[in-house]
Amino acid sequence: MTFEPQGSFISSSSASNAGDPAVYFRREFDVDDRLQRATLRITALGIVEPYLNGVRVGDEVLAPGWTSYRHRVMVSSYDVTDQLVAGHNALGAIVGEGWAVGDLTWEKKRHNYTDRPALFAQLELEYAERTEIIATDEQFRVGEGAVRGNGIYSGETYDARLEPDGWHQPAFDDTGWASAQLFDWSLETLELPTAPPIRRIEEIVPVDILTSPQGKTIVDFGQIVSGWVRLTVSGEAGKTVTLRYAEVLTPDGELETETNRGAETTDRYTLRGGGETWEPGFTFHGFRYVEVSGWPGSPEKDAFRAVVVHSDMPRTGWFETSNELVNQLHKNVVWSMRGNFVGVPTDCPQRDERLGWAGDLNVFAPTATFLYDVRGVLGSWLQDLAAEQEETGSVPWVVPYVAANMVPVPSTPTAIWSDVAVSLPWTLYQEYGDLDILRRSYDSMTAFIRQVEPLLNESCLWDTGFQFGDWLDPDAPADRPWDGKTDNHLIAAAYLCKTTREMAETSRLLGEKDDAARFRALHEKVRGAFRDEYVSANGRVTNESATAYALVIMFGILDEDQRRKAGDRLAQIVEKTDFTISTGFAGTHVLTHALSSTGHLEQAYKLLLNTAPPSFLYPVTMGATTMWERWDSLLPDGTVHATGMTSLNHYALGAIGDWLQRVVGGLNRVEAGWTRIRIAPKPGGGIMSAKAAHHTPGGKVEVSWRVEDNEMVLDVIVPPGSSAEVILPLHPDKPELEVGPGPHSWRYALSEKYGAPVEYTLDTVLGEIFTNSEVWAAVLDVFREHLPGVPLDAAATHLAAMPLSAVVERAPDTKELERDLRDVLSRANA
Ligand code: BGC
Repeated sequence: MTFEPQGSFISSSSASNAGDPAVYFRREFDVDDRLQRATLRITALGIVEPYLNGVRVGDEVLAPGWTSYRHRVMVSSYDVTDQLVAGHNALGAIVGEGWAVGDLTWEKKRHNYTDRPALFAQLELEYAERTEIIATDEQFRVGEGAVRGNGIYSGETYDARLEPDGWHQPAFDDTGWASAQLFDWSLETLELPTAPPIRRIEEIVPVDILTSPQGKTIVDFGQIVSGWVRLTVSGEAGKTVTLRYAEVLTPDGELETETNRGAETTDRYTLRGGGETWEPGFTFHGFRYVEVSGWPGSPEKDAFRAVVVHSDMPRTGWFETSNELVNQLHKNVVWSMRGNFVGVPTDCPQRDERLGWAGDLNVFAPTATFLYDVRGVLGSWLQDLAAEQEETGSVPWVVPYVAANMVPVPSTPTAIWSDVAVSLPWTLYQEYGDLDILRRSYDSMTAFIRQVEPLLNESCLWDTGFQFGDWLDPDAPADRPWDGKTDNHLIAAAYLCKTTREMAETSRLLGEKDDAARFRALHEKVRGAFRDEYVSANGRVTNESATAYALVIMFGILDEDQRRKAGDRLAQIVEKTDFTISTGFAGTHVLTHALSSTGHLEQAYKLLLNTAPPSFLYPVTMGATTMWERWDSLLPDGTVHATGMTSLNHYALGAIGDWLQRVVGGLNRVEAGWTRIRIAPKPGGGIMSAKAAHHTPGGKVEVSWRVEDNEMVLDVIVPPGSSAEVILPLHPDKPELEVGPGPHSWRYALSEKYGAPVEYTLDTVLGEIFTNSEVWAAVLDVFREHLPGVPLDAAATHLAAMPLSAVVERAPDTKELERDLRDVLSRANA
């Protein structure tokens, strides 16, 4: 589909100041009764809500989303034939500030693209013999209405009394409105989108309405989401209801807005009088709780809905096990992806950032491609990246680029953040098997490598310039997240080994022979330099950290013998830290893979299942419903870590999803596009069953394994057009089988006893017991008898870190409870 833009962008006559009302545009026009088809093309510098004859057009929200507007502005297209009538019609549009005009970054800089909201619309009226175009021009009128203030970070202020009746319908008297002005913006930036639009995807009913110790009303939706609240209210005209959004409550039960940092995230609705339903349209929030003030009467749950909003991507991946804590961890990964794919793949959706930080996406991308079809969203983002890179000569650390301190222009090249230019197209190609993905990004990929090459020292090490390093290494000083224990230049050199290999492979696949030879040679030099500088002949790495070992193991830097020894050393390191996490953004996504691929599956599971902070499951035991930015964003006492970098909805560390899906679930891609698959679940950690399913380009692949009476049951479905090698898990003879499309099942006895050799005692934490549903049920029965009215069953995940003895201490009759519990435990141990 193509379109020829006509007309011009239009705007009001004045620049917009913080807190200004949204701009309303309208125009009337005639349609004759021989109309065959009508198409509305519409976009804005800002956020646009279109109307025809008083009815909202389409179901997109936050359109046109955020792209690198200077290069690309997306135009929505709607078939509006049925919304028009023969005779008089009216087109209306409200344009809010959005990303183009309003505050961006912690510096709250305004006017990053333009100083006022501007509208572009083109209505194409097709008759048998001609097409009539109504395009934005000075015939449009400009006014204002109920949207009094709006900002992505600040929220929306809406006074329903000020909405002019019928402004978007014919015969409205707009003599009090001004003429629109032509607004200078190149129509060459206009494009039809390749990414799916942002929509309302789901609605969530409140789980509770709380009254805080200070008497505040707080609605709890039970899940951190991105979007907003829709309210239904009746009361006196002029009363204002205020909604303040937050991810978490303070330990004493008040709204905790710390994680929003400088974002006000507040919506205000002033009633028109009578019954009314309202939701904002020019902002979004990352939240689980909403503090409501000014409500007429006492609010009921039915008055509120959390409207979950994100890019409307098809879901493609599912994962589940017998372990509820692991399931919650995986759900948290999915929810953080949903919360951060609101048009742009962002770091977080709640605070004064919500930026397309490239490093976060780079480490999360393999997980993302499993969970959702991201071809559209990430393909579009890569176009933005390439456009910005071409303009500034460098890959910006945030895409779309926005100026701020900490984000220099041009951004200097760094590992993980800038090399996303190479690794993201590579990851997408692996998933979809489509060479066009690489072809489209080829110039951008090679430009990055060519930029880094001259920065290498004489032995080919990347040893200069700022690096984010192992960002948010838990051992880094809280105010210096880039200053972790792994040498930043070791990390940069390791990532360059990876990206030069990906680049050489890309050139080869695209038939770019000279480039392929050149990049292959560069890769060999970079790898050689790394080994000379950082690795001993026996596979010891100079900088002994889990991240350093995980990188050399996973990035093909070592030979086989060294790799084995490095794996042993990595296992020792994680044991030494008691299976807590000591890696940041650079190392976490490869850590468990590095262990399980060097014969240390047991240590990988111990890392996965640990609940002591910092660990994968600690946030789960703290009631997390999304992935956190740092492992201890919330401290064990429930207070927020005092660093300002404490988002509770950051997908980066959710990169563990990839290991869950591939190793626990056992679903692996061998050939790009999944034409060749390896099914190789590696059970462990006492997990008794797991299921993983994924829509590959050729169809759905499924794996399900479970241990029953010490027999393994494995069910597999291979999609049409694919073949699979199956490595039967825990099979005494370890056979490798070859299978074609369709369903396959196996059942066999295990030679060794499989399962958690857990010795339950009163020191066992609830989380551990919770993973065995039989034991948990028996323990719950005892609790119910001795602790009537204490809702321990519902709170299981929240109390996962609590040992049984702590529950016993709270009981009125300790002795009997203890006796019955010991009874249950000894039966479970037997
Ligand atoms: C973001 C990170 C990002 C980092 C890099 C942070 O503020 O939230 O996730 O990658 O900055 O500087």
